[in-house]
Amino acid sequence: MRIRYLKKTEEVLENSPWVIDDPTPVAGRWRQLMKTGAEGAGRPKLCLEIGCGKGKFICQMAKAHPDTLFVGDERVSTILARTALKAMTESGDRGLEALPNLRLIRVSAEELEEVFAPGEIDRIYLTFSDPWPKDKHAKRRLTSDRFLPIYRKLLSPEGDLCFKTDNDALFEFSLESLPAAGFRILDMSHDLHGEDFDRLSQQDPGVLVTTEYEENFIRIQKNIHYLRAAALR
Ligand SMILES: C[S@@+](CC[C@H](N)C(=O)[O-])C[C@H]1O[C@@H](n2cnc3c(N)ncnc32)[C@H](O)[C@@H]1O
Repeated sequence: MRIRYLKKTEEVLENSPWVIDDPTPVAGRWRQLMKTGAEGAGRPKLCLEIGCGKGKFICQMAKAHPDTLFVGDERVSTILARTALKAMTESGDRGLEALPNLRLIRVSAEELEEVFAPGEIDRIYLTFSDPWPKDKHAKRRLTSDRFLPIYRKLLSPEGDLCFKTDNDALFEFSLESLPAAGFRILDMSHDLHGEDFDRLSQQDPGVLVTTEYEENFIRIQKNIHYLRAAALR
């Protein structure tokens, strides 16, 4: 049963026009690769979601913002395959032609330096990252000092990092780790879906689109924390 499932995962990933199996040769060339017609309007914005899960957020963002380029990264193959299937649904079963501003990659966050050139990304989304609550696993948190220097390097001078989480401890941790790694917190809220919502959505349209995890936490009325931060230069 499991073997059949894995085979299906590989089949989905191999056949999906959005999945780039080996993205390292694309480093520095993402905008050339994703020819969307947006090139005429100057340098299109490139956004990366790290840990995109089953892909609701990245697929809906790509559909809602055809002039912006989106890359969804998920390290688990079976989960990335779910995103690939979702992309097909969002394209109305019309494929890459209907959603040309999206690509999906299967790398772990620590490998992103091999996949993007310095300054190539305008916005990084961290959405409901695994909290890794034990102190001994703190380095695995996607807002730890193991990852933040990588994001700093890949972000453009005007770039920013947007972070949503339900997890109180991970948010508190990130409020300390980001400034310590040379980021400035530009906006934040402890209740994203409360009265700050409209203000925050003006700087980040990602506020308006929920992820799978976010939907679950909204359902049980758990407050969502949010921050937007820029790398100090
Ligand atoms: C809690 S889930 C959240 C999924 C989705 N963002 C959402 O909000 O519904 C976190 C996801 O991040 C992925 N992930 C964790 N660490 C990662 C890493 N170092 N690189 C890439 N993906 C990672 C996990 O496999 C998992 O699918």
